[in-house]
Parts: sequence; C-alpha cells; structure tokens
Amino acid sequence: MPSIVLKRTNQKMPSVGLGTWKIPNSSCAETVYTAIKAGYRLFDGACDYGNEKELGEGVRRALDEGIVKREELFITSKLWNTFHSKEHVRNAAKMQLRQWGLEYFDLFLVHFPIALEYVEPSQKYPPAWWGIDGKSVNLERTPFQETWVEMEKLVDEGIAKNIGVSNTAGSLLCDIFRYSRIEPQVLQVEIHPYLTQKPLIKLAKNLGMAVTAYSSFGPQGYLELEMHLGVTSLLTHDVITRAASNVNKTPGQVILRWAVQQGLAVIPKSTVMELLVEDLSIEDFELSEADMKAISGLNAKYRMNDPAEIDPRLAIFA
Ligand SMILES: NC(=O)c1ccc[n+]([C@@H]2O[C@H](COP(=O)([O-])OP(=O)(O)OC[C@H]3O[C@@H](n4cnc5c(N)ncnc54)[C@H](OP(=O)(O)O)[C@@H]3O)[C@@H](O)[C@H]2O)c1
Repeated sequence: MPSIVLKRTNQKMPSVGLGTWKIPNSSCAETVYTAIKAGYRLFDGACDYGNEKELGEGVRRALDEGIVKREELFITSKLWNTFHSKEHVRNAAKMQLRQWGLEYFDLFLVHFPIALEYVEPSQKYPPAWWGIDGKSVNLERTPFQETWVEMEKLVDEGIAKNIGVSNTAGSLLCDIFRYSRIEPQVLQVEIHPYLTQKPLIKLAKNLGMAVTAYSSFGPQGYLELEMHLGVTSLLTHDVITRAASNVNKTPGQVILRWAVQQGLAVIPKSTVMELLVEDLSIEDFELSEADMKAISGLNAKYRMNDPAEIDPRLAIFA
C-alpha cells in the first residue's frame, strides 16, 4: 500500500483510505470489516458522522479474527466544533476512542476552525451544527490557539499519534505554525478537479504537511444532501472519460489517480464492494502529463462543503 510519511513521527499514512461520512450505521461494521479484508488500512471517521461505534465494531471484528494487527491500521477521527474549548477537547477525544474501542488514534484532526457552544453529549450526539433547539447556530468565543494547545496534549498523552487540521485556509495555517509546539502533520480539505486548491496544497507542502483530499468525486458525494450545486458529474465529464479510456481504467479511478499522482492522499467513500476494490486499485497506472493538465483545467472553484451555506457567520473560506 503506497503511503505518505508524516514528518514529525515518520509514521506512514496510506495514500488511499475509506471515507465513512454517510455510511449508514446499519452497514458500517460490515463495510469496515469487508474493506479491511479487501486491503484498506486507513479509515477516516469523525464524531459528526455519528457512526464511530459501528465503525469500531468492524475494526474489532477484523482484529479479533487476526486479519490485521492494530499497528497495521491507520485510524483517523476528528474533533467536532462544540468541543473546542480547553475543558472539552480531551474528554471528546477519549469518548470517541471508547466508541471505537481503541486505545489511540493515528490521526486526530480539528474538523473545522469553527468553535460552537458546548452541547452535552447526553443531550445530543452527534451535536451537529445547531444548538439543542435544532435551529440556532451558537458561536463560542474560543480562539483556535486554545484548541490547538489541547490537541498537542493529546499527543503528549498518547491519545493521538498525529494531529492535524481540516477545512483550514492559508492564513490560519500560517498562524498555527507561529505558535504550535507540535505542528499539524496533516491538512484535510475538499479537493477534486472542480476545486483543485493548488496554492493551498503548495503552502501545506512547504510547511511539511501531508494533504488529504476529501470529496474526491466532487458533486457525487453531495447528491443525496442536495448540495451538489447542480454541476455536471465528474464521473461522466468528457475530460475524465477520455483520460479513462487512455489508461483503460474507470472514471472513478482516474479522478483518484489524479489526486494521488500529485502526492495527495484520498479517502473515497463507498459501501459497494466492486467500488471499494476499484477505488483501492489506482497504483498500477499513470496519467499522462497532458491528461493531468486537462483534468486540473476543470478547476472552477466549485466548493460543495461550505459552512457559510448554514450560517453566513461561518464563512471560513471567504
Ligand atoms: N473533513 C471534512 O470536513 C470532510 C468533509 C467531507 C468528506 N470528508 C471525508 O471524505 C470522505 C469522502 O468524501 P465524500 O463522502 O464527500 O464523497 P466521495 O468519496 O467524493 O464520493 C462518494 C460517492 O461516490 C460514489 N463512489 C465511490 N467510488 C466510486 C467509483 N469508483 N465510481 C463511481 N462512484 C463512486 C459513492 O457511491 P456509493 O456510496 O453508492 O458506493 C458515493 O456516492 C468522507 O466519507 C469523509 O470521510 C471529510
């Protein structure tokens, strides 16, 4: 399995992992177990996905059956917005570990640089974007540095081997590097041919960070949420299908390969066995320079995942 070496720990992060957002709770355990048997080693979870307990069941089944050892897996999770203040970071991470049934995360990310008022897990879990009333978005005055200092303590305590950030733009990244004792190792952001984010990738690489592209298929992952902006599917776009026929692969494989060939990690989500296998098989071919350029040329700054759509005060990408 090709991987990216994380700078601080030298730990290898697999270049392809399984995204777990929107995997229904009822099929999580089976999907993870099947994916491990198919060769997946990285799983990308989050409090917000509301399925960490079931993901953990799949992982534990594979561990119990001796299919993999814990140290061969790379488990990622994320801190939700309501747990940013210093009282809550550690408790949230520990609670999530208990749900997975694990002793440590390989990578723990701050999901969004957005602090929302604390919501007691016994009242609502996962908390989502809105307060208990389900309507109001309640901002909290926690500066990012306070959260980051607590994230660093997770590494000190062995709760997370690596820490990183997600949905973070250049100016905030630069700021984190001004005060961090333990630098963020990974940046996870939306990247696909419609949103190539070349300047951000360049900055992250200059800072020594690994970059994980999420929502690699662009609108595809947002169809069910009606957040796809109505744009043409990348999977049927003629630039992609032409590149696919040049290498005799599927459009999905070409989209993932385009990212990995730039040195990015990808975390495609699927629950369909054939697609799981397909998405993992992107290392035995190379896209030509011309096709890489043509695919990058689709950039139109179409961002599917923008919290400003929920509340204008959350315009972190403005
Ligand atoms: N950090 C963040 O804020 C953030 C935000 C969004 C996502 N993520 C992470 O990134 C992961 C992936 O992003 P995503 O869930 O938005 O969507 P995605 O992986 O871009 O797309 C998933 C969709 O593509 C389909 N698909 C998968 N492989 C395919 C292939 N080879 N050919 C054709 N269709 C294929 C899936 O179908 P089926 O489901 O029917 O198999 C599903 O409809 C998430 O699951 C999550 O772990 C992180």
